[in-house]
Amino acid sequence: MNHNDRPVFSGQRMVVEIDGQGDGPDGIAHVGDYVIFVAGVWIGERVEIELTKATRKYGRGRIVDLVRRSPHRVRPPCPVFERCGGCTWQFVDEVARGQRLRERVAAPLSYALGQPADRLPIRAAAMPPTPRHQRTKVALMLEAAPPPLYVRYGLYERGSQRVVPVETCLVADPSAEAAACAIAETIRAERLPIFDPRGSLDGYRAVVARAAPGTGERHVVVVASSAEVPGRAALVKRAESLGLTGLSLDVNDHPSALLNGQQSEVWMGMSRQRQVIGGVTYLSSPGGFFQTSAWGASHLVEVVRESVPRIEQGVLLDLYCGAGLLTLALADRAPTVVGLEGNPAAIADAEASAKVNQLDHVVFEIGAVERVLPAWAARGRLQNVKAVVLDPPRGGCLPDVLPVLIGAPSIRTVVYVSCDPVAFARDARVLVDGGFGLVDVRPFDMFPMTSHVEVVGVFQRA
Ligand SMILES: C[S@@+](CC[C@H](N)C(=O)[O-])C[C@H]1O[C@@H](n2cnc3c(N)ncnc32)[C@H](O)[C@@H]1O
Repeated sequence: MNHNDRPVFSGQRMVVEIDGQGDGPDGIAHVGDYVIFVAGVWIGERVEIELTKATRKYGRGRIVDLVRRSPHRVRPPCPVFERCGGCTWQFVDEVARGQRLRERVAAPLSYALGQPADRLPIRAAAMPPTPRHQRTKVALMLEAAPPPLYVRYGLYERGSQRVVPVETCLVADPSAEAAACAIAETIRAERLPIFDPRGSLDGYRAVVARAAPGTGERHVVVVASSAEVPGRAALVKRAESLGLTGLSLDVNDHPSALLNGQQSEVWMGMSRQRQVIGGVTYLSSPGGFFQTSAWGASHLVEVVRESVPRIEQGVLLDLYCGAGLLTLALADRAPTVVGLEGNPAAIADAEASAKVNQLDHVVFEIGAVERVLPAWAARGRLQNVKAVVLDPPRGGCLPDVLPVLIGAPSIRTVVYVSCDPVAFARDARVLVDGGFGLVDVRPFDMFPMTSHVEVVGVFQRA
């Protein structure tokens, strides 16, 4: 083998078969055991590529020519598909996307449980009625530009932090998008300072708008590198004229321009947004976590409600409950419902929502699940818990969590919500080894036209 043990070299052109699909946006080709990732290709395609990277471990190629197209290939509906970093699967049809989302869940689960995928109770991936307009949160990144443009706003370019101007995003809620664009336009019109990540200039970095399902309330957060940025009066005036229910500032001087909620200040209106999902009213702070897919949030609630049995006597526990989306939706499932969450701000939202819905038997506690749960078990507080819902962050549960559930014999049902099929599969193995049977697996398309898959797994104690 030449080129330092690589079968390929950077700049090389070759024709490859796409024989796999990565967990992210890329298709995969093999030269022997050597893996080459190619963006914008689908399994079964034959493509001519140029190697843009060839490390010892893997290569990366860009398409030069599509030699054999997938029958699922369609024209991407978005005009900035080639450049924008979002919606990387919009070049294939819904059938192909749904099949692949299901496979993304089935493959690691089959491997972790040592069973063929067709023997596992995995349903077809549920898809939204339309991929369009599902995202209720629209984040526009700001970048200084030469006059007369002055500021460029849009989404990040694929693989970089350069801004692609986007005024109409197919997957965005149009009312959130309109609010975000109007505030960004005001920043431009007022010549307000734009943060320069390479220099010392403080300024605005992003505009994040949320439209609330069920109420249409809109709240915008402007993200800036300092609390001292000028322009508050002009932005408040614009927010009022747009009829926004709130405008806030979020200070973030870290490399990532995303909201961090470390230091936020309400500039106008309400600090919380009201949303109605499945008949329950939720209050959420703009900087806190709340599901950002309109169909995805209501489908998640529906699936979890269908999966949790009614408990006549005893407690239902919702771990990693965030602002109580699932906890409150499950209020009618048990005489006592307890939500546990590490973020105090999310718990404040959840408690406010419980109050608004007059759900006195739904209570919330603050704490790290991996510390609180073992302490509750030691004090006998799990003896009356009959079912548990858990929706941990991407990495899944820390090692101390699932053994505590396994060791509490009163817990008969565990409903596990996950946004990472690999972490889900690993944790499913722990539950199955601990005596639970996997009875239902329901993948669904939380963020249409991306490789992201959400899954709900139902485990019953054997
Ligand atoms: C995927 S979100 C789920 C939220 C909620 N189920 C929902 O659908 O809106 C995960 C939540 O877990 C919380 N969290 C992360 N690590 C935690 C830990 N170790 N202990 C408690 N909560 C944690 C996060 O703050 C976040 O609210």
